[in-house]
Amino acid sequence: MPKPSLTLASADCGREIPGAGLGLRRVFLDQFARKQSAHTHFFEVAPENWIHVEGKFARLLEQVADRLPMVCHGLSLNLGGQADLDLGLVKDIRHFLQRYRAVCYSEHLSYCGDTGHLYDLLPIPFTQQAIEHVSDRIKQVQDILGQQIAVENVSYYCAPGQQMPEIDFLLDVIARADCLLLLDVNNVYVNSVNHSYDAVQFLQQLPTEKIAYGHVAGHYMEHENLLVDTHGSDVIDPVWTLLADAYDIHGVFPTLLERDFNIPPLEQLEQELRHIVNIQQHAAGMSSGKKRGALGA
Ligand SMILES: [Fe+2]
Repeated sequence: MPKPSLTLASADCGREIPGAGLGLRRVFLDQFARKQSAHTHFFEVAPENWIHVEGKFARLLEQVADRLPMVCHGLSLNLGGQADLDLGLVKDIRHFLQRYRAVCYSEHLSYCGDTGHLYDLLPIPFTQQAIEHVSDRIKQVQDILGQQIAVENVSYYCAPGQQMPEIDFLLDVIARADCLLLLDVNNVYVNSVNHSYDAVQFLQQLPTEKIAYGHVAGHYMEHENLLVDTHGSDVIDPVWTLLADAYDIHGVFPTLLERDFNIPPLEQLEQELRHIVNIQQHAAGMSSGKKRGALGA
């Protein structure tokens, strides 16, 4: 199964690094299409929000895709669900990936519906049966797309019927499906607080060669023992520290800033992108032997 192959490398300060990316939102699409950002080296869209879009918005998206590599992050494939996979959607996604020359497609390791859509991303039970079920569905999607996909470690707030730790579930799915990992560092942090585990030990167990790219985002503190993954605020310092730890363990990988709510001006998001690049440069300088310059390589 072919891996996504395009090299994502920026030459900030004369040193090549995999770079920082931004989740594209319509609220700043126009500005983003017109303006070159020094610290944005790729961008991400949810294909479901764009598949049937034509006219002005499609032209703006094409404009951005001409300038920067695109990664696609699905919302509704329902990989962990019981209902049959929506093969029509998978074929639409295949066409979308080709149309905009996307370099990677990722989805959540979760479920979001049965015969209807729940409009939420719910955790797959950490069971052997679920591993086999979701791995088969990932393989089915990969066969249709003709390429490996990346699955994202999701945040979760309860784990009904849990038979194994989250890390064992994640590793087994990746191995069985022969897929890649979208490593959401904020989700690791949020889960480590909510479920009382060591986030660095979690990172240490992940397979370096499977990491396609990463996510960072802000979250909401409901209580010191309950963090809610909202993507609605700035990234906090412990998550930046954990991102640096992830680079130290796995080498630098392309990393994308997610911001879905309370979206500030683009200039403010660029400061966070600059921060990703700074951490990448520092990590690349500290461990040049581990540096990784390709998405999914
Ligand atoms: Fe994420």
